[in-house]
Amino acid sequence: MYRLESKISIKSAEFKENKSAMEQALGTLRERLALVRKGGPDYMHKKHKGRGKLFVRDRLRLLFDPDTPFLELNQLAAWDMYDNGHPGAAIITGIGLVHNREVMVVAHDATVKGGTYIPETIKKHIRAQEIAIENRLPCVYLVDSGGIFLPLQVGTFPDKYHFGRIFYNQARMSADNIPQISVVLGFCTAGGAYQPAMSDEVVIVKNVGTIYIGGPPLVKAATGEVVTEEDLGGADVHCRISGVADHYAMDDDHALEMTRNIIENLSKTDKFPLQRTKPQEPAYDPAELYGIIPSNLRKPFDVREVIARIVDGSEFHEFKTLYGTTLVCGFAHIMGYPVGILANNGVLFSDSSQKGAHFVSMCAVRKIPILFLQNITGFIVGKRYEHGGIAKDGAKLIHAVANAQVPKFTIIIGNSYGAGNYGMCGRAYDPRLLWMWPTAKICVMGGEQAAGVLTDIKVKSLTKKGKKLTKGEIEEIRKPILAKYDHESSAYYSTARLWDDGIIDPLDTREILGLAISMSLNAPIPEHRFGIFRM
Ligand code: COA
Repeated sequence: MYRLESKISIKSAEFKENKSAMEQALGTLRERLALVRKGGPDYMHKKHKGRGKLFVRDRLRLLFDPDTPFLELNQLAAWDMYDNGHPGAAIITGIGLVHNREVMVVAHDATVKGGTYIPETIKKHIRAQEIAIENRLPCVYLVDSGGIFLPLQVGTFPDKYHFGRIFYNQARMSADNIPQISVVLGFCTAGGAYQPAMSDEVVIVKNVGTIYIGGPPLVKAATGEVVTEEDLGGADVHCRISGVADHYAMDDDHALEMTRNIIENLSKTDKFPLQRTKPQEPAYDPAELYGIIPSNLRKPFDVREVIARIVDGSEFHEFKTLYGTTLVCGFAHIMGYPVGILANNGVLFSDSSQKGAHFVSMCAVRKIPILFLQNITGFIVGKRYEHGGIAKDGAKLIHAVANAQVPKFTIIIGNSYGAGNYGMCGRAYDPRLLWMWPTAKICVMGGEQAAGVLTDIKVKSLTKKGKKLTKGEIEEIRKPILAKYDHESSAYYSTARLWDDGIIDPLDTREILGLAISMSLNAPIPEHRFGIFRM
């Protein structure tokens, strides 16, 4: 392996300007995360506490092994949507350690609209289950939810990836020996009742946990029967009479201790034996990443400067250094795990696309996880390149990425535009996890280009109708398009809609990748199998 040599000066004005822009962006990120972590309004916190219940983050702390990391996902789901009335979309999801075993947790925050499901809650829940399926992680559901948020039923109820999919996934995972455990720490109302009912094992807390498919008001309206919540579906009912729950807990603490015991007693599974070396810090300070990403993303930068601050010892065994130079490919280690890295150093040409396809297929054959560092404005356009077959060469890269069955991870560190997003393992290409840095942008094309194309179309159409436009009028058409594209390409717009798994501090990238690779090894890596590469 060669140690990468950094060529940047951390004393330069440009570095300082970039660093200041990134720090400002991180300030915004931290503020937003703090807001979301608080959960619902104060009056709901008071109500929750008054019922003797623990807050959701305290529950997580009791569930996980002490002082171990929690890889939280989609923290800013539903950010800036519905007047910010559903922080985090009312659930917390992520991967933590219980008795040293990686488990996926989905935990309701009952202080946010009674833990009810808006469309983004469902997407977040199903995304967590998808990660559990791909990586064979046992699932623990900390249930405290009123089911569907009724005003938004249109986006939540009947479609394939709506509420019903959660229970379908539970059944399929259970059949595939991916354990499903529910801990009922509050209300499980209506559709929410199926979450424990579909689980392999259920813990319920005395006096606060209830499970029923129709609450007391509904029962009274439907049948005239008057019944209390506890008599309808409390812990005694379900542990002694109905058999819907299996373990009777006295309080939240007791319930979480029981849950830890359940995990401890699951059948043991071996991880995929990816050979790990001793982790080494990078030779260059990862904090310098702040000064490397240009404050103006249109400025190019050498992505090796990023790689040097993420990988162990800054050591990188580069592949085809002199060929297809707009795509940097090579092998390295992250937290001791071997990885193949593909990282953009400009637009994708035929040669860089072919090089990428070659490299991805090597990783797939050798069963080495792949990391994609995206800063891509797309594939090259123009007559010369079309004649050279850019479409089929781009397709080779996309084909290789789609079919590589090794764990893939994507981090959008700069731009992510057009089909470049696909070739570099965007969301549709099933990376096990996909993260964004706070200043990253994602969109079908850059705002300037989109505004140019759309303005041109509009001007042509108006000209055909006999309207002659002044420069000022053309600018009036262009400006709102540009503003719309700017807004819609921000990392926050993406993360609110779960097009990624979260926005992260560049400084946390190494640790997050280490946890992510470790988690992925719970699933076997299958033999490689590609289709037809168009030559
Ligand atoms: N749809 C829309 N809003 C809901 C809701 C639902 N299903 N359930 C709760 N909310 C909202 C409440 O309007 C309230 O909003 P606000 O803070 O803006 O006033 C907030 O969530 C908290 O509800 P509240 O009843 O005050 O809290 P609680 O902790 O005492 O009870 C529930 C929570 C979920 C048990 C209770 O609200 C309930 O039973 N909801 C109806 C559940 C239901 O029938 N679901 C069917 C869907 S499948």
